[in-house]
Amino acid sequence: MEVRAPGVVKLFGEHAVVYGKRAIAAAVDMWATAVAEKLNGRNISISMPDLDFESEFSCREAGEAYERYLSEDIGKIGKDYERLKLPYMVIIGRLLKLTKNGTGLKLKISSNIPLQKGFASSGACSTAAAIAAAKLFGASLDYNEIIDIARDGERIMHLNKNAGAIDVSTTFYGGIVSYKAGSIARHNEIKNGIELVIIDTGPKKSTAETVGHVSELYNKDRKHAEEILAQIDGCSDDGLDALRKSDMARLGKAMSRNHELLKMLGVSSKGLDLAVSEGIGNGAYGVKLSGGGGGGIAIAVPSDRELLIKTMNELGFKAYPTKIAKDGAVSFVGPG
Ligand code: MEV
Repeated sequence: MEVRAPGVVKLFGEHAVVYGKRAIAAAVDMWATAVAEKLNGRNISISMPDLDFESEFSCREAGEAYERYLSEDIGKIGKDYERLKLPYMVIIGRLLKLTKNGTGLKLKISSNIPLQKGFASSGACSTAAAIAAAKLFGASLDYNEIIDIARDGERIMHLNKNAGAIDVSTTFYGGIVSYKAGSIARHNEIKNGIELVIIDTGPKKSTAETVGHVSELYNKDRKHAEEILAQIDGCSDDGLDALRKSDMARLGKAMSRNHELLKMLGVSSKGLDLAVSEGIGNGAYGVKLSGGGGGGIAIAVPSDRELLIKTMNELGFKAYPTKIAKDGAVSFVGPG
């Protein structure tokens, strides 16, 4: 059983989505692949050749990890297990409990989605792995259930129980997807012609770190944080309207505004800010960081693609156009 799931860029609303605001994202044409095979006995073997990672654990250990995840603080159990292993232990532990199927499983996860850049590579890997394992165990799950199971992997990766919704929903469905407070919407009404340029500004902080930073800020000064988050929500609403009307200038403006608000939350970086300030007026209608931030990628709506790419390359960034992937991992699930 082989399942593929695409990378994701956030058009609007990252971080704010963790606090019940809207995020909008697009699947991009880069892929994680999970291959699941039956293994004799009751062991689970996981390999991620791109990361030189291999691990084996029993069905019982997966079940225990899932029970601990349900009842304990996520930060605490995160410290007791290997970082790369725990998301998959929990996903598989939950599937085993649901299906009462204690069969052994060999799971190989590979990906051509750049790591630690802001493309939701872990969300795509969790989603492909959850679907492949569910299929192998013979689980019949509805779409929301499978998305929630894959999200457990992201909740663990980002050490926050409200994380993972926008990335997993988008890699699951493909195309343009929005998420707000428990509701997923697919935006097939948006013409698939929107052009985006990716600007890679270099390495980024882990998303767990930037999500943790916003959480600290929120706990310290909730009123101020809520004001910023509400304004980000406004950018998402404005951006969605602009997307529906194919108004690229307005879309870009809303993105740049969203970037300034993310900067106020403390999740930008010097490189990202430079990409935004130099991009606007040099071939971009608007530019914003995309994903967890603290480095990594920015996305831009180009008004003059060649000029924008040249400007970014001269700054030492790697800039390239990207295509929205219409398909998501859903095509591997069957009717739901
Ligand atoms: C990370 O790709 C997106 C964040 O909003 C965290 C999350 O929602 O999981 C920063």
